[in-house]
Amino acid sequence: MMKILVTGGAGFIGSSFVRFVIRTRKDINMVNFDLLTYAGNLRNVEEVATNPRYQFVHGDMAERTQIQTLFQEHCFDAIVNFAAETHVDRSILDSAPFVRTNIEGTRCLLEEARQRKIAKFVQISTDEVYGSLGSSGAFREDTPLDPTSPYAASKAAADLLVLAYVKTHRVPALITRCSNNYGPYQFPEKLIPILITHAMENRPLPIYGDGLNIREWIFADEHSRAVLLALERGTPGEVYNIGSGEEKTNLEVVREILRLMEKPESLVQFVPDRPGHDRRYSLDCSKIRREWNWSSEVGFSAGLAATIEWYRKHEDWIREVKDASYRAYFDRVYTRRDETLAISATQPQNLLSDTYKTRP
Ligand code: NAD
Ligand code: TYD
Repeated sequence: MMKILVTGGAGFIGSSFVRFVIRTRKDINMVNFDLLTYAGNLRNVEEVATNPRYQFVHGDMAERTQIQTLFQEHCFDAIVNFAAETHVDRSILDSAPFVRTNIEGTRCLLEEARQRKIAKFVQISTDEVYGSLGSSGAFREDTPLDPTSPYAASKAAADLLVLAYVKTHRVPALITRCSNNYGPYQFPEKLIPILITHAMENRPLPIYGDGLNIREWIFADEHSRAVLLALERGTPGEVYNIGSGEEKTNLEVVREILRLMEKPESLVQFVPDRPGHDRRYSLDCSKIRREWNWSSEVGFSAGLAATIEWYRKHEDWIREVKDASYRAYFDRVYTRRDETLAISATQPQNLLSDTYKTRP
């Protein structure tokens, strides 16, 4: 029996991993340690709550003493670190919680892993640490880090700390870098759940800039499947890209959602662009295909249809998460367009943002 610590298991992807592991692996015990920020929701893990192999602990991974107490109470074989502040637009409004949780929180876990001689540490990172691509090329695991947003910078800093602990302290850690996730339980601040929940109410669907930014979309449960492989088969010190190969412009995404939901394209509303908006992400995933024989098996349209169905059946979940603080956030970012977020067409950043680098 292996005992693992999962941080951030009440969030979107962490809860997918928790549900997947508890459902499929009788030989794994798990503690889900989560601060329950606005993005953490115990309803996401309701189906495993009473399982004897699962336990929830409320806490902050950036508080060293809380992590120490957790490790005094449990003997973990491995750590999977999903917990993070994750939304780019929030990191533009205020980067402080991103530095605290994503960097200091990861450091606290690494320190404990070092002292307790943990057998495996999986750091969940993102393709955003590589920066932005031009119209061709894809990020490989050895592409230099070049983050743009405060969110991406905090994740890149955490990645560097992880690699430093591998080299300096021989902590057996590895890093996974995944592309954009979508699926059930995603907090409606990210593109796809905003589009679905707005279309359900016939509200305008906000598209930043020209709508031609490209993301590579993966169904979250597929990401979870790859993370379990990373935990069991990943080599310490290595980085693994995880992607689906399904690149879409934001306009393609919104059109597919409207098609599946049988809603008119007139709902699309172009809004001012995000500052420093990365143009394109794309991952070269040949390493995990070669080493673990892994590839994504859920196509974009099928995954999107399942996601839409889930949101349609969970209007109570949507109502609960769209509380007063959510409405205040939404108003700040979209209705009043907070001045730190608004880029006018005449500002030089906008011109610069057209000269995207072409990377290998
Ligand atoms: P999320 O925002 O849905 O959930 C984050 C979770 O972390 C929440 O449950 C929150 O309560 C918890 N948390 C935040 N601060 C904490 C702290 N100090 N201590 C303990 N728990 C804390 O995030 P997500 O979209 O599920 O992302 C999970 C991980 O995957 C993140 O590390 C993210 O960088 C990475 N990732 C996300 C995507 C994506 O498209 N969402 C893509 C690639 C990588
Ligand atoms: P998002 O879901 O925030 O993920 P990330 O910025 O981490 O890739 O955004 C995905 C894409 O959608 C990105 O190009 C920004 C764009 N976007 C919109 O056009 N409108 C929105 O309301 C949001 C949240 C994002």
